[in-house]
Amino acid sequence: RRRTAILISGRGSNMEALLRATAAPGFPAEAVLVFSNRVDAGGLDIARAAGVEAASLSHRDYPSREAFDRAVDAVLVARGIDLVCLAGFMRVVSPWLCERWLGRMISIHPALLPAFKGLDTHARALDEGVKIHGASVHYVVPELDAGPIIAQAAVPVLDGDTPDALAARVLRQEHIIYPRALAMVASGRVRLEGARAVSRLDTSDSAALT
Ligand code: GAR
Repeated sequence: RRRTAILISGRGSNMEALLRATAAPGFPAEAVLVFSNRVDAGGLDIARAAGVEAASLSHRDYPSREAFDRAVDAVLVARGIDLVCLAGFMRVVSPWLCERWLGRMISIHPALLPAFKGLDTHARALDEGVKIHGASVHYVVPELDAGPIIAQAAVPVLDGDTPDALAARVLRQEHIIYPRALAMVASGRVRLEGARAVSRLDTSDSAALT
């Protein structure tokens, strides 16, 4: 089982979905560390309660983005981590850390990439009047939210939606596709090949990709 770290900054609902999935027998990844750049992230207590090591370092204690990322990398290496899942980790990852973990670091973004990279995705989707919105799991590369896409899920945008209502609808899908995407990466059924995530599908994956 691939030793997996989950990086968070806040409440950690995607982290919870990943912890639940990885606890199941036969899942190809095990969650061995939850790490936050905020010492008060709510998700840290949830991880501890689930019996998973929870650690944090404040990015404010480091002189540069790369200095912080080198400290994060040292934490990951010390635990023998194989795979990293960014789950609401609200830090731009330095090119140095991206390169070190290329093909082994994935993230979830609350939009149908390549649309709505960056922040405030739900409000921007409503402003644009799109009728379909969703979430994407992708490999992390130096360019923000631009890595090869592993899995996506779509939801309808409904008349009268607020950003919060739309976010909640998308979040339910995030909790489904992120564990599926992690399973695919951990089992080797999807790999990063150049600029593409290439998958060898079996029937259990198809739902995650449509
Ligand atoms: C999730 O919706 C995730 O997609 C988003 O933050 C939320 C974290 O919620 N990530 C980003 O916006 C990344 N730029 P959670 O802490 O409950 O998983």
